[in-house]
Amino acid sequence: MNETASTDTGPASRATERLGTDPTGIAHAASRLAEGGLVAFPTETVYGLGADARNPAAVAALYAAKGRPRFNPLIAHVVDLDQAKREGLFDEHAERLARSFWPGPLTLVVPLAASASVCDLARAGLDSVGLRAPSHPVARDLLERCGFPVVAPSANLSGRISPTTAEHVAADLDGRIDAILDGGATNVGVESTIVACLGGAAVLLRPGGVARQAIEAVLGHALQASAATEGSAPLSPGLLASHYAPRAAVRLEVGDIRPGEAVLLFGAALPRGLDGASAILNLSPAGDVAEAAANLFGLLRRLDASGPRAIAVATIPDSGLGEAINDRLRRAAARR
Ligand code: TXA
Ligand code: MG
Repeated sequence: MNETASTDTGPASRATERLGTDPTGIAHAASRLAEGGLVAFPTETVYGLGADARNPAAVAALYAAKGRPRFNPLIAHVVDLDQAKREGLFDEHAERLARSFWPGPLTLVVPLAASASVCDLARAGLDSVGLRAPSHPVARDLLERCGFPVVAPSANLSGRISPTTAEHVAADLDGRIDAILDGGATNVGVESTIVACLGGAAVLLRPGGVARQAIEAVLGHALQASAATEGSAPLSPGLLASHYAPRAAVRLEVGDIRPGEAVLLFGAALPRGLDGASAILNLSPAGDVAEAAANLFGLLRRLDASGPRAIAVATIPDSGLGEAINDRLRRAAARR
């Protein structure tokens, strides 16, 4: 399934304000959201495109601005576990994970609570809800000021590379959204880890900013694999094979560079044929996967902007945040 946006389905052009993260900027952003507007804001993972989770018209505008298919549910962002419990039902696993990793880069998919305010469209009609309390101070200020849950997918055109700076957001969404809160570069760099706590099990739906090993240590047992990662009907509808797509084709785990390719290195390993490369960047010369995660999307964008015949990526270890990096790279390389 291809999630790439087409330019002719976009909303009418609107002026996009650039806001600072001082109290005035935050207050302005919160009132825009309360009025049904679309505001991009930084989280510790990537920039999110925010809308009032209770407002179906705002959520519909959000899907349109991103060119996102409506069967792909959104994550509702909250300030803390108390607010989250008004939206979803937390079993023992979910409660323990929220207490260990919130605020932070973990999303919990839990059954919808009777008192929930997140609208049907935001959940793509599912009877579950994805909830996350981000740790970024700007996101926290904004959510506190709003008082209602804010849905926020990554603030990029659907299927494209996720944004880690306000400039990345503007490149994709200028003229399509109301405002961008500019809080500088995000520090985790890959999206949140998503764990579903439905029916007694804890299932890993998407590797991300909290390493699997850290979650399993808190649970005291292994996370279950999701059906999506095993190729049957996706439990997380957003986990489409082709995603995070640069314009250039992407080749993974390369040992030999073809002439004219742009190269993304990791650590000290040097593939053969590097002298024929059109550009060379390194995710982490020191071989640190957390640093590589923080650099991943920005460096992919830079290599892509140089217009190479393809982007060749070195092998990255699968440990810690490496699992999330390799997941995103496989989606970037998927046929589309
Ligand atoms: O780090 C992040 O998670 C960022 C920042 C902005 O918070 N957000 C983000 O959102 O990555 P997005 O929309 O790009 O990814 C949300 C994922 C999708 O794969 C979606 O299918 C899944 O969450 N999801 C949301 N609600 C779900 C639900 N009820 N059941 C299963 N999957 C769900
Ligand atoms: Mg996304």
